[in-house]
Amino acid sequence: MAKVYVFDHPLIQHKLTYIRETQTGTKEFRELVDEVATLMAFEITRDMPLEEIEIETPVSKMKSKVLSGKKLGIVPILRAGIGMVDGVLKLIPAAKVGHIGLYRDPKTLKPVEYYVKLPSDVEERDFIVVDPMLATGGSAIEAINSLKNRGGKNIKFMCLIAAPEGVEALKEAHPDVDIYIAALDEKLNEKGYIVPGLGDAGDRLFGTK
Ligand code: PRP
Ligand code: URA
Repeated sequence: MAKVYVFDHPLIQHKLTYIRETQTGTKEFRELVDEVATLMAFEITRDMPLEEIEIETPVSKMKSKVLSGKKLGIVPILRAGIGMVDGVLKLIPAAKVGHIGLYRDPKTLKPVEYYVKLPSDVEERDFIVVDPMLATGGSAIEAINSLKNRGGKNIKFMCLIAAPEGVEALKEAHPDVDIYIAALDEKLNEKGYIVPGLGDAGDRLFGTK
């Protein structure tokens, strides 16, 4: 069964408060999302495999650990997921970036796919799918379906804010995908928005309405 991790680190919680706040403008919103993505990437990479190599310090030889070179891919769900990519790349600069374009039909709330471009060696990579919001879960489920249909196997999902409904739906659809969240909110409202949430992540990130 999928594990769900809620990152309650004080820095993440502090920055998330200002991300949520209505008065926070586009520039600051973008910067904060980027910073939280970096902090979450630090936590999410805890299980990265290491190997020992021999090095020489100015004093003696020693065996020391380095990352074992597992290939990684980051897949933002367009649009809003783009806001988390650079933050993750700060810690994993060699990762390749795929894109999955989905929008949520405002009436049915069902995801509509309009773009997919992934690294050519999908089968060899571990993936982190990123999107600030997990609301009904439809977009995340569809994006992960898309990735799996093209050969993606080891997948994690990372978001800023999740609704309980989305977490349950994603766990059920993809029990092999662990979920990493900065905050688990109360519920969805009648329009499918997360309450209290942060509003429309894509609009706040890109300054559109
Ligand atoms: C938002 C958000 C997620 C999706 C979450 O995207 O970034 O992708 O909604 O909702 P769900 O869990 O109910 O599917 P949106 O469809 O607004 O598109 P955008 O990023 O282009 O603004
Ligand atoms: N998408 C958003 O951007 N915000 C929500 O609250 C739900 C879906």
